[in-house]
Amino acid sequence: MYVDPCALRAGAGAGPLLSFVLHHMTSIACGIDFGTSNSTAGWVCPGRDALLLLEDGKPTLPSAIFFHAEDAEVSYGRAALSDYLAGYDGRLMRSMKSLLGSSLMDGHTEVQGRSLPFRTLLTRFIAELKQRAERSAGREFSSVVLGRPVYFVDGNPEADQLAEDTLADIARSTGFKDIAFQFEPLAAAFDYESRIAREELVLVIDIGGGTSDFTLIRLGPDRAGRADRRDDILANGGVHIGGTDFDKQLSLASAMPLLGLGTQFRNGKDVPSTQYGNLSCWHTINIAYSKKAWEHFTFIRSNAVERDKIERLLKLVTERSGHWLAMQVEEAKIALSQLPDTQVDMSRIEAGLAVPVDQAQFADAIGGLVGKVERTVTDILAQAGVAAADVDTLFFTGGSSRVPLLRERLAALVPDAKCQEGDVFGSIGMGLALDAARKFG
Ligand SMILES: Nc1ncnc2c1ncn2[C@@H]1O[C@H](COP(=O)(O)OP(=O)(O)OP(=O)(O)O)[C@@H](O)[C@H]1O
Ligand SMILES: [Mg+2]
Repeated sequence: MYVDPCALRAGAGAGPLLSFVLHHMTSIACGIDFGTSNSTAGWVCPGRDALLLLEDGKPTLPSAIFFHAEDAEVSYGRAALSDYLAGYDGRLMRSMKSLLGSSLMDGHTEVQGRSLPFRTLLTRFIAELKQRAERSAGREFSSVVLGRPVYFVDGNPEADQLAEDTLADIARSTGFKDIAFQFEPLAAAFDYESRIAREELVLVIDIGGGTSDFTLIRLGPDRAGRADRRDDILANGGVHIGGTDFDKQLSLASAMPLLGLGTQFRNGKDVPSTQYGNLSCWHTINIAYSKKAWEHFTFIRSNAVERDKIERLLKLVTERSGHWLAMQVEEAKIALSQLPDTQVDMSRIEAGLAVPVDQAQFADAIGGLVGKVERTVTDILAQAGVAAADVDTLFFTGGSSRVPLLRERLAALVPDAKCQEGDVFGSIGMGLALDAARKFG
């Protein structure tokens, strides 16, 4: 069936026709959710799941890239993580999305004397996503709706726009010709809307790896067919806090002290915390492998009181085990969503070494961040002039929405609303697919 996308954009035939089209047509465009931790691609094609399979029969591709040092081979997703863990010489990058809008974006990382601009790494990853989506769909895509957080950068509209422009340039350089953006929580809202039978006022809560994003929106079967949803959206908002920040705080509170964080030099001064911060943060781990950082570490070794802890730190850096340790911390964090306590395995640094962590310590480590997320939600309700009692539903999505403390505290702000959970890793990709069909036909 041919549908004129311009007519749809202009709102002609909105309502039942658009609704019919979305359920019966094959879209010419795809949606891409380039996530801090995981990426997905969606496509509307009747009789098929909206999410395209990207790796090993799975719809998610971890946002990871491993650049092999010896032969310049590049691996992606789960394969990138397993190549790194298998000990191949090279460079692992995760959380590349966090570079967008940051001062690091124009920088580079080094592999065996070769300089790799971060922009090239991001381009390689997006190109791979496009190619895998096309292989899975059995067709090419030149039009795309890319998801974006409500704010790439908090409180800096110019830097935020630059981040979006950079992502658009990168997408264009991979072969996309028509590029539109959609707020990630709004995409999640469209996914939820495709499954409800009555009208609801919904607060979408999308807490991912890098950002927490919110949309307060009226959803319903009769509204789903409208081309222009501006009147339905009461407020959007977000803050640059996500699961990778929780990993960082948990690492600083648990693993890093065993590597010398919080210890002193012989002159009584504290060992500087900068490189511990870099090692705890997914997208800055490689900075701790630079020559400059190494000079800093050897200085610390010569002057620190607790040299055994600093020796562990040097072993971690020499063996490029920073990402391995971050993975152990992340695993412990995820376990704490279900268990009262667990431990962070540090045995790759020293046989038998592990640090116990429990829910109270984790809550303490992320308490400040959770408070900021709560304030963002309170502001959104105030900005929309909506009383908490008027919100019918909280729709949770994003992997970090599984953190019990966060979920409880946000649910407590809107106590009468019913809590719904989507496909926490897939709802945005599915919503972007719907939006792509609506925007491009
Ligand atoms: N059960 C769980 N408990 C707590 N955190 C979890 C759980 N499962 C996954 N996570 C965290 O969720 C995050 C990934 O979620 P998701 O894939 O939704 O993020 P993303 O879409 O890549 O990021 P963003 O949307 O912010 O760019 C990671 O930080 C991961 O550690
Ligand atoms: Mg996400």
